[in-house]
Amino acid sequence: MMFWSPQTLLLGVFAMLATAELVTASMAQQDVAADRRRMVEEIDAMVASTASTSGVARLDPRVRAAMGEVPRHEFVPLEYRSAAYGNGPLPIGQGQTISQPFIVALMTELLQPKKTDRVLEVGTGSGYQAAILSVLAREVYTIEIVPALGKMARVNLERLGYTNVRTRIGDGYQGWPEHAPFDAIIVTAAPDHVPPALIAQLRPGGRMIIPVGRFDQELMVLAKHADGTTTTTTVAPVRFVPLIRE
Ligand SMILES: C[S@@+](CC[C@H](N)C(=O)[O-])C[C@H]1O[C@@H](n2cnc3c(N)ncnc32)[C@H](O)[C@@H]1O
Repeated sequence: MMFWSPQTLLLGVFAMLATAELVTASMAQQDVAADRRRMVEEIDAMVASTASTSGVARLDPRVRAAMGEVPRHEFVPLEYRSAAYGNGPLPIGQGQTISQPFIVALMTELLQPKKTDRVLEVGTGSGYQAAILSVLAREVYTIEIVPALGKMARVNLERLGYTNVRTRIGDGYQGWPEHAPFDAIIVTAAPDHVPPALIAQLRPGGRMIIPVGRFDQELMVLAKHADGTTTTTTVAPVRFVPLIRE
């Protein structure tokens, strides 16, 4: 006959509770993974339906995989987590937003980051776009002008293990000259002209994706050629928060 001491019973109860917690956590992980898959399918449909304007008919499999991998819910405030995999922008505090997943995917696709690239992002927000770039590029340098957001992004990116991202608090209009030139530059707030410092810090052969305009904004792709000249192509009308100046 077997006897259970009160200690053994207590240990058994703890073990059952711990197992239940693990099962709940893994179910929650499966839920967000499924939500993320649905989000990517929604992005696919939107990319296809806007192809005639944007020139992008489908996402590169690497970009698609990054969108399906990065946990967007970790980059939004707790009260918006249930909406994290909807295809819309969400508030992140300080009057700023995390960009719409479709726009993040489209801009990343247009940027075409390679695994060997060093990329500059202006407008870190809570760090979501930087995390996507972290998966696709060698090094990511990202600048945020609102200190509370810059700190939050740093914490988010470190906690989630995006170790190839360097964050800085400051005015991204000036770029990050100490680490220039960059192979690619992405700007996620809209200035009314392309900042000259960013063109100067783009490597010849590199490209910049940037929304430009005060009221009527256009998403633009700027290509810098070997001789230092640039060509700008307009992709689509967009709506971004304005680029703030220090
Ligand atoms: C659309 S939001 C963030 C988008 C973000 N990249 C994401 O992944 O969701 C744009 C961000 O640009 C920041 N910003 C505005 N002007 C800036 C500037 N001059 N330099 C750096 N960041 C700036 C805003 O504070 C805001 O957090």
